[in-house]
This record gives sequence, structure tokens and C-alpha cells, in this order.
Amino acid sequence: MRILMLGDVMGVAGRKVVKKYLSKLINEFQIDFTVLNGENSADDGRGITKSIAEEFFFNGVDVITSGNHIWDKKETTEYIEVENRLLRPANLIDASPGNGYGIFQTKNKKFKVGVINLMGNVFMRKTEDVFEAAKKIKDKIILKKDADFILVDFHGEITSEKMAMGHFFDGVCTGVVGTHTHVPTADTRILDKGTGYQTDIGMCGDYNSVIGMNKENSLKKFLKDKKAIGHFPADGEATLSGIMIDADNETGLAKKISRIIKGGSLKI
Ligand SMILES: [Fe+2]
Ligand SMILES: [Fe+2]
Repeated sequence: MRILMLGDVMGVAGRKVVKKYLSKLINEFQIDFTVLNGENSADDGRGITKSIAEEFFFNGVDVITSGNHIWDKKETTEYIEVENRLLRPANLIDASPGNGYGIFQTKNKKFKVGVINLMGNVFMRKTEDVFEAAKKIKDKIILKKDADFILVDFHGEITSEKMAMGHFFDGVCTGVVGTHTHVPTADTRILDKGTGYQTDIGMCGDYNSVIGMNKENSLKKFLKDKKAIGHFPADGEATLSGIMIDADNETGLAKKISRIIKGGSLKI
């Protein structure tokens, strides 16, 4: 079983790089299941629309995860009710539409894959305690009983919270990756009990920017320049960023994890 997980797709540039490389990667590496974080994929980098989600599915994505930007486009609250392949963080406060986790089939119908989307508590909008939410879901989706493989997208700001979550799920999930910071970390590895892990898998977007936003304007904002306007995405050549996991069909755990970086200015 080969799994691809891609980081936050940022605006038009991010969508372009996904379109350019995703189906090629799926064919070349015989990828069985693809998860992509779509929370910034709208033109302005805020949220996702139905037509964008459908384009991702058309290009081979199996499940779209998200984060704090999930509700930035009004239509998403209705769309998520009819499209269960789009997830929102499981620990959002109050009753939110949609699901924060689910069990999905691979395209060849051979395997069931559990996908869990969580959002951190530190330096993020207010959410339920993420470790409490993780405990509950851990009891609901059991590896090899409910799903052949289980993947976690932990959308969070700080490295410690993400790393702790990796250890929490070690041995009971196939992979735990972080998203949200838009910068990939270099700690790609398999944890003690067999879970593939990377603190953040970066963004699919233009890295010649400030986390995907136009760098000149962002800098003006930091410098308190009155000519600064609202943030808008950088539109240069984007990099596709994520990880690939080779998982053992018997145990559902990771045998190998590697970083995937394609195009644009980012280099491994
Ligand atoms: Fe993001
Ligand atoms: Fe985010």
C-alpha cells in the first residue's frame, strides 16, 4: 500500500502545481491513496469551493482535509454535508456541519483507509481539547479492525503539540503528519512503534512568499507601511510538498516514509 499526503494547497499557484504533478505521481509511483489539505485552495487563499474540490478529486485525490480556513467560503457548510470526502477538523467547537474523520475505500476497493483531521489548541482559533478528541477517535477507529490503514492530518501551529500527537498515535496509525505552518520540517521518520511521521508537510504553493502570501505586501504589513493592503497569495511557480508512505498490508504500519518535493523554488 502506497499513500501520498500533500500539504495545504495555496491559491491558484498551488492548484496549478497539483494539477501539473499529481496524476503523474500517482501513475509513476503507483499510489493507492491520496490525502490533500485544501483549506487554502480558493483563489484568495482562504477556504475551498465545490468546484475546486471536484477538480482535486478528478486529479486523483481521495480525501481532502482542512483546518482553520474551512468555513472561509460560505458554500462549504452546505457542500460538506453532501461530500463526505471533504473533512473539517474533528474538534471544532459547537455543532459543526460535516465530519472530522471517516473511513474510505481505496480506488481499487481492496482496502479501507481511516482519515482523521484534527486541529491544535495552541495559537489557533478556539477548539475542543485536541488530545481529548484524539482519545475518543482512537477508540472508534481501530487499526486492522475498522480500517486497514489510518492517517492523521494534525493542523497546528506548534511543533511540540504535533510531535506529542505523533507519539500518541504511534503504533495505532499508519501515518501522522502536521499541516498549517506551510513550511515542511526535516524530521521525516518512522516512530518507535511503526507510525510514519513528519511535524509539518509544508504547502503546495509559491515558496518565494511569506507562507504563500505575496512577500512584498506581507513585508509592508510587518513594517507597518500604510500602503500595505490585505494579504493575497503569491503567484509565482509553486512547489508541491508532501510525503509518501509505503505501508505494510499485514500490520497497517509504515515501512518507509519519504518527502516529496516537486517544482518551484523549494529543494530537498
Ligand atoms: Fe494553511
Ligand atoms: Fe491553517
